[in-house]
Amino acid sequence: AEGRAFLLQGGDCAESFKEFHPNNIRDTFQLILQMAVVLTFAGKKSVVKVGRIAGQFAKPRSAPTETIDGVTLPSYRGDNINGMEFTPEARTPDPQRLLQAYAQSAATLNLLRAFAQGGYASLDNIHRWMLGFVERSPTADRYKAMAARITDAMEFMESCGITPATTPALSQTDFYTSHEALLLGYEQAMTREDSTRPGEFYDTSAHMIWIGDRTRQPEGAHVEFCRGVRNPIGMKCGPSLAPDDMLKLIDILNPDNIPGRLTLIARFGSDKVAEGLPKLVRAVQKEGRKVVWSSDPMHGNIEKTNSGYKTRPFERIVGEVKDFIDVVESEGAHAGGVHLEMTGQDVTECTGGAHQISAMDLQDRYHTHCDPRLNNEQALELAFLLAEKLATKRKS
Ligand code: PEP
Ligand code: CO
Repeated sequence: AEGRAFLLQGGDCAESFKEFHPNNIRDTFQLILQMAVVLTFAGKKSVVKVGRIAGQFAKPRSAPTETIDGVTLPSYRGDNINGMEFTPEARTPDPQRLLQAYAQSAATLNLLRAFAQGGYASLDNIHRWMLGFVERSPTADRYKAMAARITDAMEFMESCGITPATTPALSQTDFYTSHEALLLGYEQAMTREDSTRPGEFYDTSAHMIWIGDRTRQPEGAHVEFCRGVRNPIGMKCGPSLAPDDMLKLIDILNPDNIPGRLTLIARFGSDKVAEGLPKLVRAVQKEGRKVVWSSDPMHGNIEKTNSGYKTRPFERIVGEVKDFIDVVESEGAHAGGVHLEMTGQDVTECTGGAHQISAMDLQDRYHTHCDPRLNNEQALELAFLLAEKLATKRKS
């Protein structure tokens, strides 16, 4: 909120039972760490790493039903509710799924903790992974200079005796989890009063939770639930949010104006952000509200291909983040973070990027259970582009 750190939040649109595997968790964790190093180096501030992971199952849908070839069934709402397969059996909600989602979340968190604290997150590992990316990328030249400077900085530190072996801060990291607090029965069941601070409630299903763009009504149940817990809260802000409603929501969710309590996640679309966001940032600035401004350049940039795939062009994603930074900074606030749908896997779900994935390529490895994700290389490329942008801002 005060511009001293940068929030990097990312992971699957929807976690699934099918993709649950230690290697997938490892690869997404590894990707977030690599992006964080690039961003830390360029922005010269610490990066707060938050996965959309270990609980990101329930999905809000625009339509309650889906029709294929004349057959209408309930929409898929996430693996903790029903199944993705287009059959009446799969689409019928099954409460047992909640238990499976809980068990998967707990196991995921356990593994993330081991990765974060057990040495795997060591800076020399991350550095090596990053060099691997730069080698493989067709646009490597662009990133080589920054990678080389990071290498230099590490060699200098090493010669001063600052290495992961001597310095715990280089061998461990803090890694947090988050998801949309959509399924309130589940969130409520996971909520506890802090036994050491009576009257303080936490939703223990994640560190951070957020309110989606479809469920942010000031009088609605999702806002009422989030108001009552002390976790850091995110709120998606799309084109339909009026400044007055936003201010009302800020007052409900963060009445004491605590910096860091509330993250506003702008998700306008690359064609709407420059027009729609300034009035929101201006209102927040004018009223002196303390919020973190983060950019979700994913949810306003969905397109459908002729063959029916939901995709997002990489250029639109980059375009929205860049416009977001310009808007927020020119209103005198801090561009505080990004919120991404991405995976450590080599999927083909978003078009574009250095490997120029085309609409024809999408069928190759299209695995998402909901929205299209940036793959490993696209996400890292975005981190480098963002780093360049943040570095120029820092110097100007
Ligand atoms: C999401 O983050 O997956 C999502 C559904 O976002 P939004 O609420 O912004 O549409
Ligand atoms: Co999504």
